[in-house]
Amino acid sequence: MLVSETLFPLLTLCASLAQGVQASVLPGRRNRVHLKPHKRQMSNQFNPLPDSGFDDPTVQIADPAFGTAIQAGYQGPMASYEDHALVGPVDLLRNGQVNFGVTPNFTTPLYFGVSANKSSYWYIVTDSSDEGNARQLGVNFAPKLRFAAQGRTPEETLGAEQLNIVNNTIYGRKGMVDFSPVRNIVPGSPEPFPPKSVQPGSVGDEFYTPLVQLMNAGWEVWNAPIVAGDVDEDYLNQFCDGIPQDQLAEFRSHVHDQVLAICPREETVTLSTIHGFSFSKSVLYLIADGSDPLPATLDGGTYAPRLSHVKLGDDDALFSGIERFFVNTNGYTDHDLPQGAPNNETHHPWRQGLNSAILGEGNPLNILGAIPTVAYDYSPLWDFNLWTWTNYSIENGIRTRLTGEFEVLGMAAAGYVTNPDGSPLGDAGIVNNCPVIHRFL
Ligand SMILES: *[C@@H]1O[C@H](CO)[C@@H](O)[C@H](O)[C@H]1NC(C)=O
Ligand SMILES: *[C@@H]1O[C@H](CO)[C@@H](O)[C@H](O)[C@H]1NC(C)=O
Ligand SMILES: *[C@@H]1O[C@H](CO)[C@@H](O)[C@H](O)[C@H]1NC(C)=O
Ligand SMILES: *[C@@H]1O[C@H](CO)[C@@H](O)[C@H](O)[C@H]1NC(C)=O
Ligand SMILES: *[C@@H]1O[C@H](CO)[C@@H](O)[C@H](O)[C@H]1NC(C)=O
Repeated sequence: MLVSETLFPLLTLCASLAQGVQASVLPGRRNRVHLKPHKRQMSNQFNPLPDSGFDDPTVQIADPAFGTAIQAGYQGPMASYEDHALVGPVDLLRNGQVNFGVTPNFTTPLYFGVSANKSSYWYIVTDSSDEGNARQLGVNFAPKLRFAAQGRTPEETLGAEQLNIVNNTIYGRKGMVDFSPVRNIVPGSPEPFPPKSVQPGSVGDEFYTPLVQLMNAGWEVWNAPIVAGDVDEDYLNQFCDGIPQDQLAEFRSHVHDQVLAICPREETVTLSTIHGFSFSKSVLYLIADGSDPLPATLDGGTYAPRLSHVKLGDDDALFSGIERFFVNTNGYTDHDLPQGAPNNETHHPWRQGLNSAILGEGNPLNILGAIPTVAYDYSPLWDFNLWTWTNYSIENGIRTRLTGEFEVLGMAAAGYVTNPDGSPLGDAGIVNNCPVIHRFL
């Protein structure tokens, strides 16, 4: 079996199931229906090559048949197909499509807008504060956005721009994004985190917020990040299938760094996705914006200073607009993998955190609090808690990969992890706009 086919065997299996499976009766067993994918045999061989991108046994989900005597995984549909709360893959953001591969991406509708000063811009919609509207549009239901829209105090800037729908468009949006900066990050020393300098690849003006509150449509709050600036439709239509290397620099000066393809003609945009965890479930999310240049730069989002007007530190208070997000600084990096790993593997299986991400080893594998289908308190606005292994934890082999909020809180309560400065774990005063799109399990 080809290595690439082992990367997402479960998903491959699910795709085969969806496409129609061949039911056969196995000889020598009782009449049990064996679900067998058409063209391809699933395999118990699990033999990734060093460059396969298979660095993450807990991120990339193994074939459930591994280590058993059967060839294919479950003998029936995944439980999540019957009930989204049960185990198995679930598409959460359903207005688009996840394209699975070593680095999955997401194709979603692209919308055109005209700003208050008549410049054009392009945006996506990922979340709504209204449940019916969220279902109708296939976006995430994020009830907390109605509180995020308020801002911190009535005197200060609001979290959302309050706008009307006029002539079938969101009318008069003021906040715009400058996509011309070139993203850059200079690692620190001796540890990569904190970095020496960061330059986000796109920067919002003082009015820009991804949140819009639709005053003449029930005061619903939408998460509607801007993904391209004042640029001609014909220019963008050249990039329907991706971005040629020689045009990349020019393209990035007009378009969000997470965009892999954009197609006004077909009203779609394809975005990079980021791996993380929520309650030990491997998930994919998007990065749109951040209130601080560091995470915005690291993940390729827009630095949106106005997001700092969203009230932080009050997760799950009565009027909280945010949900907690746990970002490790000093987990294992690939450099920590001892010699002689199986299959000549070069990726540390417990790799995690900003040191590793800054070294270019992959996503920091952040830990999200609630996501839809698991809890009711999801918000795409994630309030950072930066967590750091203590010297004791590092020197004595306590350090590992954590994948759930309560693991981090437990380790913090026990004293094995702290804030980066050694103080007890708490809110770092940073919020990122990262809509969740898919749950693998
Ligand atoms: C999106 O991912 C799929 C699957 O890996 C890949 O074939 C496709 O080229 C990607 N699209 C873009 C625009 O990068
Ligand atoms: C409109 O606003 C954008 C973004 O703030 C700015 O770049 C552009 O120059 C403005 N255009 C006019 C005509 O004022
Ligand atoms: C809405 O459309 C009508 C009809 O085309 C036009 O007269 C009106 O000026 C438009 N309103 C705005 C605010 O653009
Ligand atoms: C690991 O690398 C060694 C030396 O290059 C090679 O001989 C061996 O076949 C490799 N093993 C695997 C499983 O790829
Ligand atoms: C932890 O270890 C590092 C590197 O050895 C050292 O610089 C630092 O002072 C130590 N921190 C504490 C709190 O002991």
